[in-house]
Amino acid sequence: MSISKSVFGLLKGEKEVELYTITNKNGAYACLMTLGAGIQSLYIPDRDGNLGDVVLGFDEPDYYTNPDLGYQGLVVGRFANRIRDAKFILDGVEYHTPNNQGQWTLHSGGRFSFNIWQVEEATDNSVTFSFFSPDMEDGFPGNFKMKVKYTFDDDNVLRIEYSILSDKRTIANPTNHSYFNLSCDPSKTVEDHLLQINADRFTETDDDQLTTGEYGELKGTMMDFSSMHKIGDRINEPFRAIIDGIGYDNNYCLHNSQIGRLAQAAILADEVSGRKMEVWTDLPGIQLYCGGWLEKEGNPGKNSNGAVSYRRGAALETQFYPDSIHNPNFPFKLVEANEEFKTTTEFRFSTL
Ligand code: BGC
Repeated sequence: MSISKSVFGLLKGEKEVELYTITNKNGAYACLMTLGAGIQSLYIPDRDGNLGDVVLGFDEPDYYTNPDLGYQGLVVGRFANRIRDAKFILDGVEYHTPNNQGQWTLHSGGRFSFNIWQVEEATDNSVTFSFFSPDMEDGFPGNFKMKVKYTFDDDNVLRIEYSILSDKRTIANPTNHSYFNLSCDPSKTVEDHLLQINADRFTETDDDQLTTGEYGELKGTMMDFSSMHKIGDRINEPFRAIIDGIGYDNNYCLHNSQIGRLAQAAILADEVSGRKMEVWTDLPGIQLYCGGWLEKEGNPGKNSNGAVSYRRGAALETQFYPDSIHNPNFPFKLVEANEEFKTTTEFRFSTL
């Protein structure tokens, strides 16, 4: 294992963004950037050993901070996904979060993800980023320090360990927002990728994609991925929880999940290259989002390939169910004052 450090580029022409590249014995490597503690590239072998970049993204930092380009590869915090009415009550106090979409908050307003993080530690197979968000920043209580440790190993596993310390009781829902395309040919959509999600239920949503607190059964619906099949098989079928033309952008309730215990959540695979990725997490939910809100063309992308476009990648965002703070029946864990809150997600690569 080895690690090297380089300069990725300048954010807004001034702030340097660093890139840490961890390489394993297979030559596979992960490029992790101080911007949003993000995954900038991830080169993984296909069944013949040829390396290819399995995540969408850009060659220049500024694009990453445009929320319309979908938070490519970034860590989302403090609270990923939606908060209804851009406010919540905790211990009798009402807090107001940024109203950056409709009547709600998406991804905490975005600012948290678009910062440059500090590097706490780098070893030959890991890098730990940290970020401090002061009390009431974006409306959230607590002086909030978050660490994100990436470890890449010789078995082609990328582990993400999130750790949070706050001086007040608060809420958190950290995730990584990478969009995977295992063909490494993002001129194609991910509709031919195979997907399995270990869930029988999903969280029902209203017309604004906000959770209603109800659960829906997946069996027999176009959202059912409990056995592996192509993403594109039924993606265009009308369904009450799907916005016309957008396709999948929904939270799945992982069965056998127990907060704090790592379990397999999903498998994504590409039959042509043979690349396969398992997602493991200790969180109860996963958002499947196939980039349906991205423009069909005209967006930038690495090597000017325009890949950050409609349906070119599948994001598998491990999370607490969206808006858990408003839905007492959802499994959820608060961040307690001065107690470390931890969660882990792994992307495990192999071949079919
Ligand atoms: C959301 C999408 C959103 C995307 C990029 C996903 O987590 O569910 O609706 O477009 O993030 O912000």
